[in-house]
This record gives sequence, structure tokens and C-alpha cells, in this order.
Amino acid sequence: MGGVMLLLLLCLSAGAMMVRAEDPYLFFTWNVTYGTISPLGIPQQGILINGQFPGPNINSTTNNNIVINVFNNLDEPFLLTWNGIQQRKNSWQDGTLGTSCPIPPGQNYTYHFQVKDQIGSYIYYPITAMHRAAGGFGGLRVNSRLLIPVPYADPEDDYTVLIGDWYSKSHTTLHKFLDSGRALGRPDGVLINGKSSKSKGKEEPLFTMKPGKTYKYRICNVGLKNSLNFRIQGHPMKLVEMEGSHTIQNSYDSLDVHVGQCFAVLVTADKEPKDYYMVASTRYTKTVLTTTAVISYTNGKGPASPVLPEAPVGWAWTLNQFRSFRWNLTASAARPNPQGSYHYGQINITRTIKLVNSASREGGKLRYAINGISHTNPATPLKLAEYYGVADKIFKYDTMSDDAPATASDKITVEPNVANITYRTFVEIIFENHEKSIQSWHLDGYSFFAVAVEPGRWTPEKRKSYNLLDAVSRHTIQVFPKSWAAIMLTFDNAGMWNLRSELAERRYLGQELYISVLSPERSLRDEYNIPDDALLCGIVKDLAKPPPYTI
Ligand SMILES: *[C@@H]1O[C@H](CO)[C@@H](O)[C@H](O)[C@H]1NC(C)=O
Ligand SMILES: *[C@@H]1O[C@H](CO)[C@@H](O)[C@H](O)[C@H]1NC(C)=O
Ligand SMILES: *[C@@H]1O[C@H](CO)[C@@H](O)[C@H](O)[C@H]1NC(C)=O
Ligand SMILES: *[C@@H]1O[C@H](CO)[C@@H](O)[C@H](O)[C@H]1NC(C)=O
Ligand SMILES: *[C@@H]1O[C@H](CO)[C@@H](O)[C@H](O)[C@H]1NC(C)=O
Ligand SMILES: *[C@@H]1O[C@H](CO)[C@@H](O)[C@H](O)[C@H]1NC(C)=O
Repeated sequence: MGGVMLLLLLCLSAGAMMVRAEDPYLFFTWNVTYGTISPLGIPQQGILINGQFPGPNINSTTNNNIVINVFNNLDEPFLLTWNGIQQRKNSWQDGTLGTSCPIPPGQNYTYHFQVKDQIGSYIYYPITAMHRAAGGFGGLRVNSRLLIPVPYADPEDDYTVLIGDWYSKSHTTLHKFLDSGRALGRPDGVLINGKSSKSKGKEEPLFTMKPGKTYKYRICNVGLKNSLNFRIQGHPMKLVEMEGSHTIQNSYDSLDVHVGQCFAVLVTADKEPKDYYMVASTRYTKTVLTTTAVISYTNGKGPASPVLPEAPVGWAWTLNQFRSFRWNLTASAARPNPQGSYHYGQINITRTIKLVNSASREGGKLRYAINGISHTNPATPLKLAEYYGVADKIFKYDTMSDDAPATASDKITVEPNVANITYRTFVEIIFENHEKSIQSWHLDGYSFFAVAVEPGRWTPEKRKSYNLLDAVSRHTIQVFPKSWAAIMLTFDNAGMWNLRSELAERRYLGQELYISVLSPERSLRDEYNIPDDALLCGIVKDLAKPPPYTI
């Protein structure tokens, strides 16, 4: 009797958890089509969402349920991923090729996810083919709930600034380059919100500010490969948030934004009332590509000065900037993984994984690898193969070792790269970059503590230089050439999670892997069931659905 009651109670509470009726829903219908855009002044094929390039901005609040019915009207399979949205227990909605079947041309799929316990500035973008090179990306903001104090006064307005390098070649041409073993080459320009200084037409202000007021700008790098420096003429930027964490509020004249990263800053309109340029320019490139966009004062008289603020030079500057980023430990905010949030510096490391990125030109064909493995996506998404119990037909776990081969070698293996990480363990991941170009690594499903970015090679003694107190909890970390970076996190989110190079060319040619975090119990407490309307493909297409997870 007591047992039955208890079971009933458990059922009720699990039911309540699944319905999540208390949190508001936001519904969207998105029509993804080709359309002509001219961001560099020359018409080219773009990917539009509801006719827009960049795509619509999602404005949500912590714990909102977001339902987006995406109609793919392209002639190729398409999939969007939500960079930095943690998809707690819900890798089904992560939108990567290891977790979902892409939406076939002419069909639709409805993403359904909750921005659980998150705040901050994020982006979404297409993960399929080289679609990101044509558009399909946009901003996604998660506001704090009204009850939760934010460590700064409400800004007058909240602006999203998407910066990125841009190619005038179509995404089809670019992926043909990569498929044939060639590199992408250099981009042709830089865009701010889909425009450049070369876009045709009058220079309309992108944003306006009322004198004396303070505005929030959320700056994200949606580009394919270049780190960008961002600055605003005459206006320092007070950093307040980075990829979901409130930061110590330092003031910066300019910020280096690496691919996939987002910063939120406050800017006060307290200068002479006129126009000002915001500037985005490529970092660490022989030829510097620059673009500008205008910010106007509402009472402004006169155009922006043509003299643009200089970008910083060299690595030391950017390394110091990274070291100045600190988490505000006293700010209250939604935090997704409380186990890992406090005193992460005192948790014992259960596993250290060192990942070394490399390039190979074996047989004249360019491929990129991690610890010698160049990932390839099987036709059956890894997560579906795992769920249907046919993983052994599709991939092997842990073919990659936790350490890179000691001898530098061009030898790589092309195969699915899936690491098995034990649920709820605290893991240290070292990214070591022996190459001459910068890297930017992103992990889905989690925030991690970015405890160090240092030149040279990593050794266990280097742990002494970690920031074990107030490193920012974030989802993307850059690694400078001939340098390393260290991150730490608790793997407490069951699912199949993509760890990828944000540099589109590198990811497309194999520099990514998946981390399978299995809940031992197939329990709804740890992971949601596969959605009823999940698209099926590959060998699971005609298999009987396995019994659902239970409490
Ligand atoms: C999407 O846009 C295309 C082209 O404008 C149009 O033909 C189609 O009907 C639209 N689909 C939806 C679902 O709105
Ligand atoms: C975004 O949502 C917040 C909270 O609902 C609202 O106050 C704000 O006006 C919205 N902003 C835009 C641009 O829609
Ligand atoms: C496709 O869109 C229709 C509404 O037009 C919706 O009823 C259906 O559930 C959607 N299919 C998927 C798989 O999301
Ligand atoms: C951190 O957050 C607290 C609490 O909201 C705030 O009072 C404080 O000013 C912030 N500290 C810094 C250095 O930004
Ligand atoms: C961490 O490891 C140390 C040394 O092995 C041990 O003494 C300590 O009890 C461990 N702490 C926890 C919380 O497991
Ligand atoms: C993953 O690792 C755990 C712990 O070592 C082990 O028990 C489990 O069998 C592994 N799972 C797979 C699918 O290899």
C-alpha cells in the first residue's frame, strides 16, 4: 500500500516535471529559403529565415519553453544548432548530425526545448554542409526572470551585434572546395548584422542611442574562421556577461571575439552628440579586413569621424585580455549545474583528456583531426543508434586515446569519434594547439570553467597556473597558436554532446567529436524520451521504437 502510494507520488512529480506547465511557451514558425543578398555589394545566394538575413532574434527569459517549427525549403538537408543552449536532459533537440537526422528538403521539424536555468547571449546557426557561410544564423538572448537581481541597472535598450567574416562565394562552392581536399582560403570581408561598408545604399544608422542613456550590446562572432576585434569610436565598453555568466565589470576599449563566442557590454551615450562607428576587423591575418556600422545619437549633429580606432596588435594583448575575464561570484543568476558551480577548484579530477588538433594532407586531401581521428558523421545519428541499441553497427566508443600520440605524425584515421564519459564525473580537458593558426573549441550541453589559456605545451605542473577561483563558466574557448587551454566541468547532463572546432572548415573536415554521457538507468530523471515526432533516418528508420525511459 505504502509502496503504491510512493510510486504514485513519484509518477505525479515526474509527470509535473515533464509537462513543465508553469513556464511560458514561445512559439515560432520559421521558413528557411534561398534568397539573394548583397552583403559585400555583389549579389549572391543567401539562406534566409522568414525572408531575413541574419535570421530572427529570439528574445526569451530563463526557463521559457521554445517551440520552433522549421520548414526546410532549401534543396538540401538542413539542421540548426543552438550554440550554448544547454538542452538539459535533452540532447534530442541539440540539432547536430550526431543527435538528429537533418530536415529533408521540403519537410519540417519542430524543435522543442527549454532555456532551463540559463541567462545570457547566444547564437544559433546551421550545422549542415557549409550553410552557415550563406546565413541561417541569428541571435538568441535569455533574459533574467524579473525576480532575479541583475548586477547592473536595466539598460535603455538591448542590441544584438552579429559580427563575422564573409565569403562572396556560395556555400555550395565552398563545400565543393572542402570536399575536393582544398582549403577555404581567405574571406572577402567582414559583416556586422549582415552588412558591410561595401553594402550598397546610404549609410543608415544600425543603432541609435539617447544622450545620457546606457545600452546593452550583445556581440557574437558568427563567422567561419577569423577572430575579430570589436570596438566603438570614443566609447569604452563595460563587460557584464559572457556566454551565460555575469562577469566582473571591467571596461575595455576593444574586445577580441573568437568564432562562436558572445560578450554583453554596456555602453553609455555620454560623448559629443553625433554619429560613431562600431568597427569589426580581423585579427592575426596578413591582410586586415575591416567593416564599420553607424551608431547615432538621437540628438546627433554630424557624421562619424573617418578616423577609426586602431586594433590592438600581438598575442600578449589578447592573452592578457583573457586573463582579465573573471566570473562575478556574488551575482545571483540562474546556474545550470549547481554541483559544478561552487568551489570547482576543490573537486577531485577523475579524468584528464588532452586533445591535440592536427591537419593532414595525406593523398593531397585536406582533413583535420583530434588526437589522430578525423570525425565523420554516419548516416544514422550516433544518439539514435545508441538509443535503439544498434550502436555497435554504427560506431565504436573510445577509439581515441585520452592523450595525443607522442610523435607528431600526419597519420589520421577517418571514423566516427565518440568518447564515453561517465555520468557525473569531474573531468579536465586540455586543448593543445601545435599549429600556427588559432583554434576555437565549443562544447554542447554544458558550460565549463575556462581555467587557463597559456603559451607552450601543457604539463601536469601547469595546473599551478589555473584560475581555480573565479574562471568564467562559458561554452567556447580559444587556443592560440603553439598554446594550450584547460577547461573543467562535471558531466552531469546525460546525452550525446558535440565537442567541435567552431572554425567551420575544420569542423566540416573532421575536427569534432561526440561525448556520450549515459545515464546508467535509462531514467526520465536523467534524460527525456526521444520526442514522438523525431525524424528518423539511416538504419533506425524502420526499427521498432524501444520502450520509453521510465522514472
Ligand atoms: C516559404 O517560403 C516559400 C518561398 O517564399 C513559399 O513558397 C512557401 O510557401 C513558404 N512556406 C511556408 C510554410 O510558409
Ligand atoms: C524581450 O523580452 C523582454 C522580457 O519579456 C521584454 O521586456 C523586452 O521588451 C523584449 N525585447 C524585445 C526587443 O522584444
Ligand atoms: C510540420 O508542421 C505541421 C504544421 O504545419 C505540424 O503539424 C507538424 O507537427 C510539423 N512536423 C514536425 C515533424 O514537426
Ligand atoms: C557582482 O555582482 C554584485 C551583485 O549583483 C554586484 O553588486 C557587484 O557590483 C558585481 N561586481 C562587479 C565587480 O562587477
Ligand atoms: C580528493 O583526493 C584527495 C587525495 O587523494 C583525498 O584526500 C580527498 O578525500 C578527495 N576529496 C574528495 C571530495 O573526494
Ligand atoms: C562507458 O564507461 C563506463 C565506465 O567506465 C562503462 O561502465 C561503460 O560500459 C562504458 N560504456 C560504453 C558504451 O562503452
